[in-house]
Amino acid sequence: MRTLDTLMEPWFFMWLSLSHVPATIRALVAAKDYGALFSPSRFREALFGTLWATIGPMIKAMNEERVVALLEGRVRGGCVQDEAVLPPIHGTVLEIGAGSGMWVDVLARFSSNVDATGELYNRKKTERGITKIYGVEPNPISAKALQKRVNEVGLQDIYQVVPVGIEYVNDPSAWDSEIKPGSIDCIFGILCLCSIPEPEKNINLLYKLLKPGGYWFVNEHVKVKHGGPLLCFYQWYCNIAWSFLMGSCRLCRDTEKSLRAAGVWQEVDLAQPSDQTGYEVIPHIIGTLKK
Ligand SMILES: C[S@@+](CC[C@H](N)C(=O)[O-])C[C@H]1O[C@@H](n2cnc3c(N)ncnc32)[C@H](O)[C@@H]1O
Repeated sequence: MRTLDTLMEPWFFMWLSLSHVPATIRALVAAKDYGALFSPSRFREALFGTLWATIGPMIKAMNEERVVALLEGRVRGGCVQDEAVLPPIHGTVLEIGAGSGMWVDVLARFSSNVDATGELYNRKKTERGITKIYGVEPNPISAKALQKRVNEVGLQDIYQVVPVGIEYVNDPSAWDSEIKPGSIDCIFGILCLCSIPEPEKNINLLYKLLKPGGYWFVNEHVKVKHGGPLLCFYQWYCNIAWSFLMGSCRLCRDTEKSLRAAGVWQEVDLAQPSDQTGYEVIPHIIGTLKK
């Protein structure tokens, strides 16, 4: 039964996406953005934005416990540990594909200026928390929602929305600042490396932004690794329709390989989450890399 569920999972998301077409058209008409109605790429992005407003909170609810443990440094080999095995997320953070700010409240708990929630996570007063966050989000509708969420959570002093793709973060002509190589303590991103253009090139760029000793916190869906050629073929087959219905997201990316190849790492701990069998059509990896 579980096998059937996992085989049907991509089709469930694609059906959900199709069911959001009328709402997307209504939103574009209401915004008088008629151009997007006739541009397949812009419509695809708008459709994904509308879909994510529905499924994003569900996906967050399903993953929050594990992601919080990841950011607390309590994940090893895909399993949540009782005690921290790594330092928690800290210092200057780059959030890739921050979307509409689904994880801003979680990041706030690690910020050095949010004491009450910091205590919830037993963060010692002396421990260094997050001091600055760059939230990189190119979709203008999501970037606007992200800024609103940052203000609601009260993180505007340290959270800066960067309204461009990660490929432009070190280009001062693309936005009003620049992120310099070796200036980032921690990179964080949830289900976003599946959506960025030219993944190898841009993962290399992100690697260069990390300080030596910096951490990359990863939670992504990836290419099928186990399950044999039939499952690989089935994932590839699903990806044909997926690429039309799920924005710039792609199912068959070997993100672990791209991350490992980006440069020299002191430590790599990437694994499938403990509750997955390895035979999913949308398998995940979770863990950290230390530069
Ligand atoms: C599946 S959504 C995840 C959003 C968010 N991380 C969350 O969990 O709610 C993928 C995000 O990647 C963003 N994205 C697409 N291309 C990007 C790029 N070139 N650079 C950074 N983010 C990008 C999309 O706009 C979208 O917000």
